[in-house]
Amino acid sequence: MTGYIETERLYLRQWQASDFAIFAEMNADPEVMKYFPKLLSATMSDVIANKCQQLIKDNGWGFWAVSLKDCSEQIHAFIGFVGLNQTHADLHFAPCVEIAWRLRKDFWGQGYATEAARASLDFAFSELALDKIVAFTAVINQRSQLIMERIGMTDTQDNFYHPALNANHPLAEHVLYKITRQQWSSRD
Ligand SMILES: CC(C)(COP(=O)(O)OP(=O)(O)OC[C@H]1O[C@@H](n2cnc3c(N)ncnc32)[C@H](O)[C@@H]1OP(=O)(O)O)[C@@H](O)C(=O)NCCC(=O)NCCS
Repeated sequence: MTGYIETERLYLRQWQASDFAIFAEMNADPEVMKYFPKLLSATMSDVIANKCQQLIKDNGWGFWAVSLKDCSEQIHAFIGFVGLNQTHADLHFAPCVEIAWRLRKDFWGQGYATEAARASLDFAFSELALDKIVAFTAVINQRSQLIMERIGMTDTQDNFYHPALNANHPLAEHVLYKITRQQWSSRD
């Protein structure tokens, strides 16, 4: 494996062919997709995985495939993605880079998303020398906001309505968190 990030328990790496079917299963799981407007078909899921793979190939960073270092059953088994992405141009705070995460349900509650998110922020500030990173999610997605807080991001209080959703959709209102390079380097 080349061009990967290693943490205590994880690899953040390029996507491989065997990840795609597992990713499609995640994207068809109503619990994983509870805070997204709809479940994804296997075809749509593959489109996204291909895009993640291509962006990492082109740029050297992106939404990395996350796998466990210590996995007796499957070496480097895929547990989801965590990483960085250019925010969609439709969002009022674009252009900037966001951090995001999505893990298989079986791997929630073990701190993996937080561990991978910290490594992603470290990469963003040390390797890419970015000035700030944002994160956003539906107001009702508390689990995701807990990660934002654990990794030292602050709530901008600048909630916004996602342009891809009707304003009265239950997922439309989003929180916007951010962290600057200065905040990251002066963390405890
Ligand atoms: C968002 C999501 C990644 C959060 O997963 P998570 O398991 O809650 O987050 P983490 O992996 O950081 O784990 C934190 C939990 O592990 C616990 N934990 C256990 N062992 C740990 C360890 N060694 N180190 C750190 N935390 C540990 C923490 O106490 C915390 O538990 P809690 O949920 O009871 O507070 C997951 O719910 C998900 O994939 N959701 C669907 C996709 C989604 O909504 N993405 C965001 C859209 S913007």
